[in-house]
Amino acid sequence: TPKQPSLWGIPLKYLSLLTLAIQNSALTLLMTYSRMPATVSSGTYSAATAVLVSELLKGSISLVFAFLRQDTSGHSNEMSQTSSGITGRLRYRIRRLGGEMFSTDCWKLSIPAILYVVQNNLQYVAASNLPAATFQVTYQMKILTTAIFSVALLRKRLSSTQWFSLVCLALGVGIVQIQAGMQHKAITALSTATSSVVPLKGFAAVTAACFTSGLAGVYFEMVLKNSKTDLWVRNVQLSFFSIIPAITPIVVAHRTDVTSGEGLIATLFHNFTPTAWATILVQVLGGLITALVIKYSDNILKGFATSLSIVISFVASVALFHFHVSPVFMLGSSVVLVATYLYNTPSSGSLSRPSTPRVQ
Ligand code: C5P
Repeated sequence: TPKQPSLWGIPLKYLSLLTLAIQNSALTLLMTYSRMPATVSSGTYSAATAVLVSELLKGSISLVFAFLRQDTSGHSNEMSQTSSGITGRLRYRIRRLGGEMFSTDCWKLSIPAILYVVQNNLQYVAASNLPAATFQVTYQMKILTTAIFSVALLRKRLSSTQWFSLVCLALGVGIVQIQAGMQHKAITALSTATSSVVPLKGFAAVTAACFTSGLAGVYFEMVLKNSKTDLWVRNVQLSFFSIIPAITPIVVAHRTDVTSGEGLIATLFHNFTPTAWATILVQVLGGLITALVIKYSDNILKGFATSLSIVISFVASVALFHFHVSPVFMLGSSVVLVATYLYNTPSSGSLSRPSTPRVQ
């Protein structure tokens, strides 16, 4: 068997999964905290700017990796014919990377790019309207949407245990939603101030984000595993196609602000607190790790990493935000965790994101 890539002796597969679990919890907590009205008395930062900045950062980091990892072995003849010296070789490598990036199939990445931009914006809506733990548990519904898209697009088969676990998952998420609704009613009944937090809006955002997650994830893996193109080149293409959808809401929102460039920057970055920047950095890290997980691991293990992150967020929510643990929340979360475990238990015909999918 080929040697597994590793870092400090730990296989990248496990390292990326563990990092993903920690990153997932950190992101949910940071995002929720950074959007809390108490931490931003003069309003909150622009989610659209945050998404755009994270796409630009992710794209730049991926570009550096793509350049460093570029495989020019087997091209030494071509290189020596067309170039000489360090600058010549550099120019050759840049040209080759450019050719790879704007290859004929690069447009395929525009589909997951648009979906992920929508998803990343929706996450902020969800985080602004739901408690961290509720957000995290409800977000598990993406396992269901990933399954639906895999069955519909890739004609994957699910075992009966997996179908059963999907029903349990929906049930568990439903229980958590009921309890969150009750908690919200109790809070608003106690407070005289009108709250801008609308759980229903949060749930609608998470549900839509689950759909984009499933479709984008399946599509990205199809494209990645159907060609030899390097992961980092695919990531640059993904970020490249994200720019227009990420910029559009910003342009629409500020089309009437005729200010100086400096004024516009100040408006776009209004209320960008250190927690807002930390949220963006953790989001960037998450994108990079997700890409690694899709490449070096599989969906089965990714599911475990995400369910582990529920437990981490849950414990942290209780400790940091005095999240109230009701028996109903415990029941709903437990059902979600058991369902995730059942779904990921290998059986014949089990579903993971396809390893040898076909792309049209
Ligand atoms: O929850 P889910 O696994 O669908 O989240 C995927 C996240 O990873 C999104 O924020 C998306 O923008 C990011 N991503 C990325 N690069 C990839 C794949 C996903 O930045 N190649």
